[in-house]
Amino acid sequence: EINKIIDYFIKNKTLDYEKILWILSLKDEVIKEKIFKVADIVNKILNTDIVTLKGVIEFSNYCKKSCYYCGIRVQNEEINRYRIPINEIFQIAKNGVEMGLTTIILQSGEDDNYSDDELEALIYKIHHELKTAVSISIGERSKKAYERFRKAGASKVLLKHEIINRKIFESIHPDKDYDLRIKLLDHLVDLGYITGSGNIIGLPGQTLEDIAKDIIFMKEHNIKMIGMGPFISTHNTPLENYKNGSAELTLKAYAATRLAIPYAQMPATTALGTIDRKYQFKALNCGCNVIMVNLTPDKYRENYNIYDEKIKVDLIETAKEIINMGLSIPPYTLRNLFIKEA
Ligand code: 5AD
Repeated sequence: EINKIIDYFIKNKTLDYEKILWILSLKDEVIKEKIFKVADIVNKILNTDIVTLKGVIEFSNYCKKSCYYCGIRVQNEEINRYRIPINEIFQIAKNGVEMGLTTIILQSGEDDNYSDDELEALIYKIHHELKTAVSISIGERSKKAYERFRKAGASKVLLKHEIINRKIFESIHPDKDYDLRIKLLDHLVDLGYITGSGNIIGLPGQTLEDIAKDIIFMKEHNIKMIGMGPFISTHNTPLENYKNGSAELTLKAYAATRLAIPYAQMPATTALGTIDRKYQFKALNCGCNVIMVNLTPDKYRENYNIYDEKIKVDLIETAKEIINMGLSIPPYTLRNLFIKEA
């Protein structure tokens, strides 16, 4: 069966739905490890052994949405809300670039307190003054806003579809923004963004078939960056009593996705690291090729509780661990992080 997968991949440079589902369903440890190895080899041959480090700044935990799984949903009155001032966001980004990061991700809840004008100016300043790639992860804004951000210098967007099964999507997103989100994703691709999406593994009622459909959806919609993490049960949310997603299944999803969408940028996610730190690094040998490190100052980060016990992914620690594993980090990152000061 493994040979069939390999032959199919070589011929088609992708996998079809049945083959993705077969990988997601694997129970046999030996066969599973073999598939991880195949995904790993495909990644390392096509994309090299360099693990890209991107820096995320969580600049606001205000959110107007009510997603059932998420700790910063508007109804959660237990968390301390913060907004980082624009000038401070720029300084944090500058710090990240000086430490060798080549992509700065601006992430927040859906917070209209930052106007399109303000964000556009911030993106322009970060992109042009720091000469870095800017990625935005701020949820649903107007098409017009995304067009302006693109012109200002943002080249990437993250907007997770979360789950392509409409019934489940609507059961956990009370504003029922399914169509809007998918239309917006297509629009982002049309605007020329390197567009990222992704799904949560282990949502209530989700089947392996649903996950296979998530992967097919991303393939068909030209998604180039794929963030998939396990569901993490979070207190004071409607899903607080629901069980966490499986780390093993997450790895299988990574391997299947690498073979279905071979050139994707695919982080080993913080959510996976939160469930099991070792798995986040193991994921780098199952098809993942990115880690997002956290640049948010601790006093803010402690309140960015999109899920419980969210770990801090530290740039220096992560870079060392990757090198210890025998993998590489980008030369620019290596130079700025370890060599420049020496
Ligand atoms: N478990 C896992 N992932 C979550 N996210 C939010 N809450 C949770 C949770 N409880 C993910 C969603 C969202 C991103 C910011 O974090 O995929 O898009």
